[in-house]
Amino acid sequence: MSLGFPLFPEQASTVAGRVDALYFFLVAISVFFAGLIFILVAYFAIKYRRRPGRKQADPVPDHVGLELAWTLIPLGIVMVSFIWGARLFVTLSRPPADALEIAVVARQWMWKFQHPTGQREINELHVPIGRPVKLTMASEDVIHSFFVPAFRVKMDVVPGRYTTAWFEASRTGEYHLFCAEYCGAQHSGMTGRVVVLELAQYQQWLRGRIVAEPPEVVGERLFAQLGCNACHHPDRPQLAPFLEGVYGTQRLLVTGETVIADEAYLRQSILDPAAAVTAGYAPIMPSYRGRVTEEELSQLIAYIKSLEKIQTTRSP
Ligand code: CUA
Repeated sequence: MSLGFPLFPEQASTVAGRVDALYFFLVAISVFFAGLIFILVAYFAIKYRRRPGRKQADPVPDHVGLELAWTLIPLGIVMVSFIWGARLFVTLSRPPADALEIAVVARQWMWKFQHPTGQREINELHVPIGRPVKLTMASEDVIHSFFVPAFRVKMDVVPGRYTTAWFEASRTGEYHLFCAEYCGAQHSGMTGRVVVLELAQYQQWLRGRIVAEPPEVVGERLFAQLGCNACHHPDRPQLAPFLEGVYGTQRLLVTGETVIADEAYLRQSILDPAAAVTAGYAPIMPSYRGRVTEEELSQLIAYIKSLEKIQTTRSP
């Protein structure tokens, strides 16, 4: 593979090697059996070809050993592929708890990023090496897909919901970012780059940017402007749950179900409040669908999440 003709993107994240190993395993299995079948087809075609004076072959009698072999060997291979793939899937779909959280908004035709400390970027994402990065992604219009080949990370970005992806860059440098879902005329131009920096350089880069306000500060202001605090207020616990410490906890709903109050739940509660009402409350909250943008939504959610941080540092 060192022919100066790269067949594969470089491996620049902690999972890249594992993804490639599984890929090579699947390719090797496919090549082996495709080759075996081709060779046997040719061999049998010659061996059992029609010849003068030769009768048709006798029917093959039952052969338990053969039946077991061609049942159990494929089953074993399929189970290995399944367990291997499932373990990798679980790793890829569970961002580590200490991940740096970046908000991503995709739209025709650009990528917008916001760092937890407020810095914004378009079509460029700076991240530190050796630190897990969690992307919470929303689309303002159609389906896009966040794809960084060097990280072996690809995740659809779907309007109306959050999707997440995470990676930990293992090599500094610049890597291509693509949109991998056809999203309109300029889809092919919806590209960008991810710049992986040493931690100190990343911090320097952050300091060198004009800092927009951190998302939770904007979120706190929105919370007041939109009138959320008229009900979500410690003085009015009968109207609406006070949101301090809500993020990440289990919520009992009026339906008797429990849900985890994650980003997806908070999003739903803002856009479609009647869908999952907390037990003990009436469905009086109006929908904010169409009244907040994707960015405002993520700022409101950042604020609600920051309330959890305050509480956990206060409690012993
Ligand atoms: Cu966005 Cu293709």
